[in-house]
Amino acid sequence: MNVIEKAGRQISRSRFNEEHDATQYLYKHIAMDLGRPEPITEEEAIEWMDSLANSMTLRWRENLSVGNDSIDSDHKYFIEIINQAENSLISMDRAELKKAIENLSLYSAKHFDREEKIASAVGYPQMEQLHNSHEVLADKLKQLKIEIDGELSLSSVVHFSALLRDWLLDHLMKEDMLMRPFLTKYSPKFEAT
Ligand SMILES: [Fe+2]
Repeated sequence: MNVIEKAGRQISRSRFNEEHDATQYLYKHIAMDLGRPEPITEEEAIEWMDSLANSMTLRWRENLSVGNDSIDSDHKYFIEIINQAENSLISMDRAELKKAIENLSLYSAKHFDREEKIASAVGYPQMEQLHNSHEVLADKLKQLKIEIDGELSLSSVVHFSALLRDWLLDHLMKEDMLMRPFLTKYSPKFEAT
């Protein structure tokens, strides 16, 4: 079974079953995403699906480390949850997607709290900014939860995937990296008591 057949089966199991022929639906949306008039070839469709699946898997890299094991391990878990959310987006499995977003909400609340305690204990001077950025990220997740109750289509897969990645990158790269010079003055095993 090739990628298109697999996607077609997933879509036909979804809410589109009665309204659309799955393969035609898939091809039409790929053409729209490619900005191309129909028809596209099967080869082009397979290439599109493969590149989407490949580009979606986020991987932890050493340069994402903020210098504290406990914060890094939370961030690794975020990447795992976001990959799960994206897999459920690709298969348009709304129940799994909701579960992943719920998990992200619960875990991020615990993580933000842990991170703020560690930051404060190592004397990070931008505590207010850190706390405010966490509130903004929590609000963005709440908004996302509302949005995923709307229609799920192949175009929305790309849209939600971008939102999740922006969420992670805003947190990891923009805010948490600022703590690195303070965290690395301590052992990577440092924990706030
Ligand atoms: Fe963090």
